[in-house]
Amino acid sequence: MSRARTRVDGPAKVAGVARYAADHPGPDLRHLALVTATVPAATISTVDTTAASAAPGVVAVLTHENAPRLAPPVGAPYGGRLPLQDNEVHYDGEPVAVVVADTLDHARAAADLVRVDYEVRAAITDFTAVTDLVVPSPPPRWGPADTNVGTPEPAEVTLARVYTTAARHHSPLEPSATHAEWRDGRLFVRDATQGVFGVRTVLSSVLGLPREDIRVVAEYTGGGFGAKGYVWPHQIIAAMTAVHLGGAVRLVLTRAQSFTSHGYQPPTRQRITVAAHRTGRIAALEHDSVSPTATYGGYVEMAANATRVLYAAPAIRTSHRIAPVNTILPTPMRAPHEGPGAFATESLMDELAHELGVDPLWLRLRNHADVDPTSGLPFAAKDLRACYREGARRFGWERRPLAPRSVRDGHDLVGWGMASAVMATFRFPASARVRLRVDGTVVVEAGCQEIGTGTYTILPQVAADVLGCPADQVTLRLGDTDLPETGMTAGSSTTLSVGSAISAAATTLTAQLAELAGADAVSLTGTTLELDGDPDRVVDLADLFAEHDLVEVTADGSFTPTDTGHSLHSFGAVFAEVAVDEDFGTCRVRRLVAVYNAGRIINPLTARGQMTGGLIWGIGQALLEQSTLDHELGRFVSKDLAGYLVATQADVGELEVAFVGEHDPHSGAIGARGIGELGAVGVAPAIANAVFHATGKRIRSLPITPENLL
Ligand code: MOS
Repeated sequence: MSRARTRVDGPAKVAGVARYAADHPGPDLRHLALVTATVPAATISTVDTTAASAAPGVVAVLTHENAPRLAPPVGAPYGGRLPLQDNEVHYDGEPVAVVVADTLDHARAAADLVRVDYEVRAAITDFTAVTDLVVPSPPPRWGPADTNVGTPEPAEVTLARVYTTAARHHSPLEPSATHAEWRDGRLFVRDATQGVFGVRTVLSSVLGLPREDIRVVAEYTGGGFGAKGYVWPHQIIAAMTAVHLGGAVRLVLTRAQSFTSHGYQPPTRQRITVAAHRTGRIAALEHDSVSPTATYGGYVEMAANATRVLYAAPAIRTSHRIAPVNTILPTPMRAPHEGPGAFATESLMDELAHELGVDPLWLRLRNHADVDPTSGLPFAAKDLRACYREGARRFGWERRPLAPRSVRDGHDLVGWGMASAVMATFRFPASARVRLRVDGTVVVEAGCQEIGTGTYTILPQVAADVLGCPADQVTLRLGDTDLPETGMTAGSSTTLSVGSAISAAATTLTAQLAELAGADAVSLTGTTLELDGDPDRVVDLADLFAEHDLVEVTADGSFTPTDTGHSLHSFGAVFAEVAVDEDFGTCRVRRLVAVYNAGRIINPLTARGQMTGGLIWGIGQALLEQSTLDHELGRFVSKDLAGYLVATQADVGELEVAFVGEHDPHSGAIGARGIGELGAVGVAPAIANAVFHATGKRIRSLPITPENLL
């Protein structure tokens, strides 16, 4: 059942009592400050810690010369090089020393006193200048690097274009932070992370500690957007230092360090070609994407994935190549893959519509994919046609004049554009436990994270639905490796995956209660159970538990993603109205209407929050966000939120969000698919297409800046 429910963690966050990783004091807490490389490629010739070591409050200074030795990380994604293990520098911002002191001020002051001399090597940061491109090895669930299906038909119209997207940084409100304590041979970590189990796995392997001697906790994570998914060097440095010195340490990245310490969304250069018949039917699609990776590892942005599934082309060929450069490893960023990729696919569809003189929405319906055109599999509960229909109705699309530059409002040129949204449905194995206490309290336990999406609110609703009780009767414990294991809270997978495990546990729990009560079915209300749907047959939990000598009833459940023979994707349609002032080159997004198809929506309120967040994120991608690399210095230029612009309230016009479609029986046990990242797909091309409609200017690189529009 779908039910709007306000955020249960809202009051704690608003009142400032929700504690994040860096908010926990300790009697012997020591503070860490990183010293990071100021050049992108070098060998460290000398590192002089004399002055830093003698500075007030300093306990230790660790460099590659005296830091403990680490073993290779295995078992969970790690995005760095192993810190402080050699004298090599592969990117600007790479940690080269860490200062441990009694206060943060002492640590940071001493960090400034560490002198590092480099033998600088030639660096390359411009991925478009790399000639030796590498074929990536993506994780299997992302799909293969290359695909090629079908035979292109001879076609009358061929458009070949190059689209580019900018490097972007996640910029969550909470900078990454790790609190690590080593006591009695056990490591306790509070971390700003999207995956406590991944942190434990990596720390276990690099430090050579048994997993059971490490506990990682994250009650709240202050936004991640992918930055806190992989494990990064700072987490290892904090844990290593705690183990080395004993006691508690805290490492908080500065905002500037957050631009070089936990990945970024790589820029992309996408060559995309569509061949089509004059009838509007696509004859072939080709999409080749190149993006940078680090010199020391392979991350690939799967930008051509959107083209693999969106349209019923008789032939589709895609490829991804990566170009090693001297930056930290790029990493997933909301919405990875389809986010940058749909800009190319969905802009090109708009170009084709213009070339053919047809309505862009009509062209998409004309080429609607009834089955996955690359795998040939049926889609799970796809309702994209209804998204188009409902979005167009709400937006008033039928009133759109076909020709660009047709509408003026005072000084502004007004344009309407649209785009499809698509996001692969990620699923992770998950386990959960549900406990019912004699006082009627239900406690759900699952080791996933609350990263700001509403997990504390939604997952109790899943258990409550099965048990028959109000959601307020259920509390959730999460973010702790002592709890049942789940995957990373990433890929918009938590509600689906952990929810399916909770649903299974709650189902088992009700079966156990029914057996105890001698009924076929039970429903929980407060401290009583109603038997077999009969309001006259009610037992008190107190009596039932006493009769069986119980203090609580507990059930475990799990979710294992299985191949259902379906192509699992969520879909949407995004409609944008922009106003462009040609004298100033400014573009305002006046309104966005977006309609999504993502299976069952558990909580319409938090779901709407996710999608409006995605739309605003998409406005940032379209118009503001770019991390410029200075290729002379080999570094990102802006390392603060004054130079790296994200969308603010003032950048956002009217937002309208709706969902269509029902229960998806294939993706999981609760009918839901992922939603969060879907909201960040399709916005940029809808805006770019609206800009074309307003001005007649086709902008093929993001973000669309005033310079582009003048
Ligand atoms: Mo998301 S980029 O998978 O946190």
